[in-house]
Amino acid sequence: MGEQEERELIIEIQSMLEKAKSLEESDANEAMKIYLNISKLILGKSSNMGVESKKRFMEIAERALDRRDFLSKKEESIKKGTGNKETEKADYSKYLKAGKNSESNGFIVDLHPTIYETTFQDIAGLEEVKQIIVRQVIKARENPEMARRYGITGRNILLFGPPGTGKTSIAQAISHEISYPMVTVTPSYILDSRFGEFEKNIRSLFEEALKHAPIIIFFDEFEALAPRRTSINSSYMKRGVPEMLRQMTDLRKKNDGRVIIIAATNNPWDVDEAMLNPERFDTRIFIPPPDSKSRAEIFHIFLKDLEIEENMDFEQLGQISEGFSAADIKYVCRTAAEYAFSRAVEMNEVSPVTAEDVIRALQASTPSITDSQMKKYHDFMERYIQKV
Ligand SMILES: Nc1ncnc2c1ncn2[C@@H]1O[C@H](COP(=O)(O)OP(=O)(O)OP(=O)(O)O)[C@@H](O)[C@H]1O
Ligand SMILES: [Mg+2]
Repeated sequence: MGEQEERELIIEIQSMLEKAKSLEESDANEAMKIYLNISKLILGKSSNMGVESKKRFMEIAERALDRRDFLSKKEESIKKGTGNKETEKADYSKYLKAGKNSESNGFIVDLHPTIYETTFQDIAGLEEVKQIIVRQVIKARENPEMARRYGITGRNILLFGPPGTGKTSIAQAISHEISYPMVTVTPSYILDSRFGEFEKNIRSLFEEALKHAPIIIFFDEFEALAPRRTSINSSYMKRGVPEMLRQMTDLRKKNDGRVIIIAATNNPWDVDEAMLNPERFDTRIFIPPPDSKSRAEIFHIFLKDLEIEENMDFEQLGQISEGFSAADIKYVCRTAAEYAFSRAVEMNEVSPVTAEDVIRALQASTPSITDSQMKKYHDFMERYIQKV
């Protein structure tokens, strides 16, 4: 699938999303149908997509399905007339109130603010990253008075690194640790090529964020939301990026630390240089690929709840999986489980996943992290990120 075709698909999806959104209140069934059609449309085209695009589109598809589920649960509870409806009202009344009092179009409510269940314990390795976050973010939340004395208020965090290494998980764990609800803003959600709309969306989002505080705004695929101005062709992006920069700076002035911006990107070199300024992101963290010990832990995380052979040598699995990201390992474990499952079905008895299955699955897949990619990250850091 070519770039042009992808752009057209994005536009098509965007208009479907808008349609679905506008129907949620008046005709939830139709809205659910559209959400389903969005995922079907993506699935239908996914076999012609490159790896990166496929992942991006699949995420959109998943979110559309999530939204559909959410609406369907809501419908159900309305039909039942009690129970869930009340809880839901209680959970969301705060957001709805803030949304109604403003002239905004309700982005935050719509994005379903969630306090995540992911904890730092669920994330293997990345000890330094966790330490930085505890020191700079969590301690400040736990000791607000003290933090204020030292001028430590808002924290905006830029997480960058290869795909599948835990950037999204880290953002979720921050939400969990400080009990701030989080919304994930993807480019497809707020990009809008109609005149003035993209800037308006950005402004509304930041305005709403202040009203909904405490909140974490998680910008995923940040390079697509704030690309280098020198490489932009589209006029709406040319206006959108400066607006984004302006809002980020303004937020620092107005914010008492109760709105936290976290942005994640695999391609930090594509992000506008002015965004990399510590005035905008005071915490910029490289999320490295897992080392051997962390890989062993990740294998353990993804296999421990399955039917596995006794005494599986996780350490060895960690050693022989250089270049595999956590997401790669998750996939390898699933493949290994499929091998064992087919065997079990064939033999008609339980057959545990063995280290051999995992090794076979490892050999059948390609690690996503390469040396040349790593060099790009190191070069980027030398150039833009001061050592702390
Ligand atoms: N350090 C880790 N320990 C355990 N599991 C991890 C770790 N990092 C990632 N995972 C798991 O791998 C999968 C992908 O992780 P996540 O989505 O956080 O990566 P990411 O860096 O945001 O990827 P992308 O750049 O593709 O968005 C998830 O299932 C997550 O639970
Ligand atoms: Mg992610």
